Amino acid sequence: MNIARMATVAGLTLTLGLVGYSFADDDDDHDRRYKRPKRLAVPSDAPLVWKEECAACHMLYVPGLLPAAAWRQQMSTLDEHYGSNATLEPALEQQILDFLVRASAANRLPVEPSPTAGEPPRISQTRWFEHKHDEVSEAKFRREAVGGRANCVACHRDAERGDFDDDRVKIPR
Ligand code: HEC
Ligand code: HEC
Repeated sequence: MNIARMATVAGLTLTLGLVGYSFADDDDDHDRRYKRPKRLAVPSDAPLVWKEECAACHMLYVPGLLPAAAWRQQMSTLDEHYGSNATLEPALEQQILDFLVRASAANRLPVEPSPTAGEPPRISQTRWFEHKHDEVSEAKFRREAVGGRANCVACHRDAERGDFDDDRVKIPR
């Protein structure tokens, strides 16, 4: 075996070794840095105004899906809400904000800005989301029956109640 070939073999072994390592370790390592929200269930005292107003244009996103600081950014930019105006009376906005902040308490994820400049943070564009869906192809999220990665409820039937158990997930055709 000549030197060049030996170097290639050694390089290959090293690469495979690294891949094996990161694969086996990924979950632990990730969860240590990005604690997954533990309490996703919606508190029984959730205000009606939240259920009605925040599900008027899309599914209802349960508070545990974002950290408190991200909800503050959401609620302080409702006039420019992903290209829509979602403003409400100040008293109602305050009531929703108080609820979201309180109910998001178990979420210790860092706030990650949306990759699209000028937008509030997204749930569907975070490392946590990528990590949970690393087996789901982009083509599946784009299916018409799915309607994009932000439409959790297409695949997680009880998403609006905070249930994302992967035993019950079903991707529509
Ligand atoms: C007038 C329509 C409208 C209303 C009302 C509205 N939204 Fe939205 N919201 C949107 C649009 C449009 C998007 C972007 C959807 C997309 O890109 O798929 C969005 C996206 C979001 C996202 C990010 C989803 C993701 O990609 O992770 C969150 C969180 C959110 N809204 C929360 C709220 C909350 C909280 C309320 C209530 C205060 C609310 N929305 C009310 C139109 C609305
Ligand atoms: C195209 C369908 C689809 C959409 C849309 C989708 N998911 Fe998922 N999700 C899945 C699949 C499939 C899994 C299981 C992945 C696996 O086990 O590898 C999963 C897994 C998860 C898990 C981990 C569940 C567990 O038991 O460990 C969470 C949490 C989750 N999704 C949250 C969300 C949220 C929040 C949204 C919306 C912002 C969303 N998903 C949108 C298909 C989807």
